[in-house]
Amino acid sequence: MKIGRLNHVGVATPSIEDSIKLYRDFLGATKIHEPFDLPEQGVRVCFVDVPNSQIELIEPLGADSPVHGFLAKSPKGGQHHVCFEVPDILAARDELLAKGATVLRGGEPRIGAHGVPVIFVHPKDMGGVLIELMETPKAGH
Ligand code: CO
Repeated sequence: MKIGRLNHVGVATPSIEDSIKLYRDFLGATKIHEPFDLPEQGVRVCFVDVPNSQIELIEPLGADSPVHGFLAKSPKGGQHHVCFEVPDILAARDELLAKGATVLRGGEPRIGAHGVPVIFVHPKDMGGVLIELMETPKAGH
């Protein structure tokens, strides 16, 4: 297990449109990608590029969205997770499980917003931070 590049910071929001205005008009972000739905994960997502990383805006999609719980505690939204790249998602998962960390969904990777497999490591084992690990996208991905 070797932590790689910070790929993005996930930010939950009740409104992607409002958050886009904030990042664009207050903070001067110029590269804001088109929002898209990930129905199987119950989220709508929008990536905002910053020079060395991305912000992933996450809005709940549907009544069963896992983001509703987060927004119930933090109605204005807030920092939700950080995502690091790893070269091999299954090797990373197996090592974390062997070390006693809790990987969500039983450690079953799923395809994340970047089209590569991701896992989430429970914050109780990660100093209170929800950690997403994603397999490093191949060149041209
Ligand atoms: Co993410």
